Amino acid sequence: MSIFASVTMAPGDPILGLTETYNADPRKEKVNLGVGIYVDEQGKVPVLDAVRQVEQALARDDQPRSYLPIDGLPAYNRATQNLLFGAGAAILEAGRVATAQTIGGSGALRVGADLLKKVLGDQAKLAISNPSWGNHHVVFRTAGFQLIDYRYYDDASHGLDFAGMLEDLGKLEPGTVVLLHACCHNPTGVDLDAAQWAQVVALLKDRGLLPFVDMAYQGFDRNSTDDALAIRLLADSGIPAFVVANSYSKSFSLYGERVGALSFVGADRDEAARLLSNIKTTIRANYSSPATHGGKLVAGVLDSAELRALWEQELGGMRGRIHTMRAAFVDKLAALGAPDFGFINRQAGMFSYSGLSKAQVDRLREEFAIYALSSGRICVAALNTGNIDYVTRAVAAVCR
Ligand code: LMR
Repeated sequence: MSIFASVTMAPGDPILGLTETYNADPRKEKVNLGVGIYVDEQGKVPVLDAVRQVEQALARDDQPRSYLPIDGLPAYNRATQNLLFGAGAAILEAGRVATAQTIGGSGALRVGADLLKKVLGDQAKLAISNPSWGNHHVVFRTAGFQLIDYRYYDDASHGLDFAGMLEDLGKLEPGTVVLLHACCHNPTGVDLDAAQWAQVVALLKDRGLLPFVDMAYQGFDRNSTDDALAIRLLADSGIPAFVVANSYSKSFSLYGERVGALSFVGADRDEAARLLSNIKTTIRANYSSPATHGGKLVAGVLDSAELRALWEQELGGMRGRIHTMRAAFVDKLAALGAPDFGFINRQAGMFSYSGLSKAQVDRLREEFAIYALSSGRICVAALNTGNIDYVTRAVAAVCR
């Protein structure tokens, strides 16, 4: 009898597991609107020119593959801080930010969650938007947090339930960690505007809550600076402590390189140093140190004024194509006599909460080989001129 005989089958991942099913689907016309990956007009994950230039320069020299420091490449961490907070930001000058390169944004979330659990102990609670990215729940629950939903999405308007959000955040106990999506909310595509962010930041400060900002889509709504607004407001707010997890998977199109970072902000330089030492022990206990290649690519782009400008331009190209696809999706569905999908033009980033029911999503997959999440989330960044007619006709059919 095997010692593993009692192990039962775990459920497939709702997002990455769906891609496994999609990959196994033999139908030629298949379209994957499930996972959040940007693909270009040809349906390919692009290699950005800025990244290619760094990669080619690296390839010309030997690259000894020693271990990186536990907290990653110093140049990467510096560039990350500048991108998140703005070069020369007071919070950086004051030495209040401790940043470590991590294995993707998920690695940042998990290391952050583990460290916060250690600090907060049995009382660790996380307030999370309803809905949120499914893996947020998994990561924080696995780290030992108790989860509390706060209202966020309003089904009727396909927009933000801001009053509900404020009411729920206002009831949280001081010290509760509040998970916020900096921009391009996953899965809804519904974001706060500048005035709403200012109100939320004031409330977080007033109530002594601990903001934990996840930024996985920097530059997919406006540009990399404007999309960091929530982080910049927190930095200037006088809130003594907060956390940021960020990812370059999407913004640098480097998904498989697992490039992310975790930043803990403390009250002063000394607190930041103590936080960094604890980030490092947490990383060491998880995976020792991050990977070299992706970190060098990102640092190489961000450290060169010329490549940084090229990257911003290429990011703008991805953003623009998604906007075009949103508009085409809405217009084509209107022309097909489907119910109004105009709200999709108001949503930001890669995703849209389409309002499609689970039954409609099932029909899309079974009858048309079009894959979306059962929540109705679709990845608009997977649409292109080659598949949009097929997709909109299928959506119109399941709406009939
Ligand atoms: C998504 O939401 O589809 C992406 O963030 C990919 C993932 O890891 O789930």
